[in-house]
Amino acid sequence: MSTASFSLLLCLSFFTYTNVHSKLLSQLTSPYLSPTTIIPHYQNMLEAFKIFIYTPDEAFTFNSSAESLFYASLQNSPFVTHDAEEAHLFFVPFSSNLSTRSIARVIRRFKETIPYWNRTLGADHFYLSCAGLGYESDRNLVELKKNAVQISCFPTPDGNFIPHKDISLPPLASSQAPYAPANKTASFLCYFRHGGIKESILVKELVNDPDFLIESQPSDLLTYKERLATSKFCLFEYGADVSGIGEALRFGCVPAVITDHPIKDLPFMDVLRWQEIAVFVPLGVVKELKHVLVRTYGDRHEQMRKLGVEASKHFVWNELPQPFDSFHTVMYQLWRRRYTIRYPRRSTV
Ligand SMILES: *[C@@H]1O[C@H](CO)[C@@H](O)[C@H](O)[C@H]1NC(C)=O
Ligand SMILES: *[C@@H]1O[C@H](CO)[C@@H](O)[C@H](O)[C@H]1NC(C)=O
Ligand SMILES: *[C@@H]1O[C@H](CO)[C@@H](O)[C@H](O)[C@H]1NC(C)=O
Ligand SMILES: *[C@@H]1O[C@H](CO)[C@@H](O)[C@H](O)[C@H]1NC(C)=O
Repeated sequence: MSTASFSLLLCLSFFTYTNVHSKLLSQLTSPYLSPTTIIPHYQNMLEAFKIFIYTPDEAFTFNSSAESLFYASLQNSPFVTHDAEEAHLFFVPFSSNLSTRSIARVIRRFKETIPYWNRTLGADHFYLSCAGLGYESDRNLVELKKNAVQISCFPTPDGNFIPHKDISLPPLASSQAPYAPANKTASFLCYFRHGGIKESILVKELVNDPDFLIESQPSDLLTYKERLATSKFCLFEYGADVSGIGEALRFGCVPAVITDHPIKDLPFMDVLRWQEIAVFVPLGVVKELKHVLVRTYGDRHEQMRKLGVEASKHFVWNELPQPFDSFHTVMYQLWRRRYTIRYPRRSTV
């Protein structure tokens, strides 16, 4: 081996070493699954992503605010194209109030009149349905459910979400208003707003523990924010109300989610490292919940809190979309999915 090629080899392995090293470092200090590629991919999306929206055959509405905001933002965005030939993905709009039979009719009509569905049997299409669709026997609905990307509201009813294909919208926060601390010092290990479900096992187990602040509903919004900002963990029961999870992150309250099975429809699951911003506790060990939280409290908690606050910008919904907010992060997820569903005849970007 010549000296030249030997030193080249050294250089290469040094390069690989520093590369791996900096990759590890950025992973420890980033809430992202791919900290080094998210920004360039996001930029590419802003520059290139094109969506074609089918014209609905009748007036329609979405009945959740997250869906309505997403749709309005999409329509007013530079992503929309009227030239279907340059579109990466196709959006199929239909009302939240349609029966599955009517949805099947909508799909059949688009299939017959527009050539794009048949090219991929719907795989480069997406649709909004807050509750998600279940399995049906109708051919059109099977293609819609199995091939098209579904955007539902988090949490999505059991069975209505296909991991790695579907996307969930984060819930709207109760208020975007900034938080002005009121100098209260009361601080709790864990805060739990149970929203009225007093029969919950959790409430029964924890209600007398002074480390837990448990209430049905805080008296006002400021108090609620105060609770989030001064508690170390915020408890959520998967299956009950988890709508405050984005707000908890924003106020530095590390979400502790009680769940009896792995959650497959978390918002931005393929973007964020959920394990680094939230604690997941199996339902069976509620008695040990406190030990889990106390064990996490300390350096680990501080790290999670910081990463959670950083990640929280993705959970914010805006009337006018802002960089990296909920709308743009869902668009980013769609953009990343166009690879898996690209069909061979189309030229690539
Ligand atoms: C669904 O909503 C649209 C728009 O609000 C309305 O025009 C339509 O009649 C509704 N359809 C049903 C089946 O309720
Ligand atoms: C939205 O529509 C679904 C299905 O029609 C219904 O179950 C749900 O209650 C509606 N939600 C609202 C907020 O109107
Ligand atoms: C797409 O395929 C269906 C049968 O699967 C057919 O009925 C329909 O006419 C086709 N659409 C177009 C535009 O050719
Ligand atoms: C909170 O305390 C700081 C100083 O400790 C004070 O400047 C500020 O006015 C207080 N805010 C309220 C809302 O009492």
